[in-house]
Amino acid sequence: MNKCAEARQGRPVTVEHAGVTVTRVGVNLGAEVSGVDLRQPLSDKAFRAIEDALVDNGVIIFRDQYITSDSLMDFGRRFGELTVHPFAPHEEKAPELIKFRNDENNPPFGTDVFHSDETFRAEPPMATVLCAKEVPALGGDTIYVSMSAAFDGLSDRMQRFISGLEAVHDLKPFRALFGNSEEDRKNLQHFERLYPSQVHPVVRIHPVSGRKVLFVNPQFTISIKDMDERESRSLLDTLFHQALIPEYQFRHHWAPHTIAIWDNRSTQHYAVNDYYPQRRFMERVTIRGGPVAGVEPADPVSVRKAKYLVPAHADRHGGHKPQRHVSGN
Ligand SMILES: [Fe+2]
Repeated sequence: MNKCAEARQGRPVTVEHAGVTVTRVGVNLGAEVSGVDLRQPLSDKAFRAIEDALVDNGVIIFRDQYITSDSLMDFGRRFGELTVHPFAPHEEKAPELIKFRNDENNPPFGTDVFHSDETFRAEPPMATVLCAKEVPALGGDTIYVSMSAAFDGLSDRMQRFISGLEAVHDLKPFRALFGNSEEDRKNLQHFERLYPSQVHPVVRIHPVSGRKVLFVNPQFTISIKDMDERESRSLLDTLFHQALIPEYQFRHHWAPHTIAIWDNRSTQHYAVNDYYPQRRFMERVTIRGGPVAGVEPADPVSVRKAKYLVPAHADRHGGHKPQRHVSGN
């Protein structure tokens, strides 16, 4: 990139610190990291340079990393505690290590929709580390989106409107894993108790960069709190569309022994589902996140939900309530 473009975009293409070289490969997100062999211990300074690169670039790529599963977990633990996904495939001895083995007999499941990982949790992960072991000859890319750029790209009016709103996130895609048997229904209830729907701000503040992030995704976000269902659906459709805009995206083509780490607080991703029945084998670890802080409402006036204002003491449901015995009709 020439100096003119660097000045326009405000950041140099390549920076080097503590032996770690970070080269931007996308405009709004994406960088490649070199000068690092993840089989070797990382100095604290080198690790800090990697942490900074993650926040600055949203997703960072390390090529030619011939590391074992144990080393992948050790590297992940430098960022924080690893979490166990309640549904993803793993082996008993290392539940923190997810193994996506997709082939003719095991098509990819549920990752070809834009999402941040596990926002159905009260505290969604801060980052995810994905290591490619085997990749298809063609296809199987991952598309990443900067949801900070996606927020910045909204009109001022829309930014003000959504500031202070909250959205409901749910484990909905995983309900497909449960059938109709008595045992399955009990199992689902068990997971619903463990992971009840969560409310997160629609616009979150990144805890390190301080940037505003559009924090709703079509995989887990089911509604906007305190809005009419139709309004909620149409607003969510509008906001989900931001992730589809190419200017906010970076598309990564995998090679074996490549590792990508994404900042799950500021990005979304989509695993392109175009390679079946070819083999694709990936290992993943996920780093625990913290509370999700939102922006203050731009307009502090409370929002009216119904067609008319209803006093707090009124019965809002017109006498309807769950009946103890339902005999059918
Ligand atoms: Fe994901």
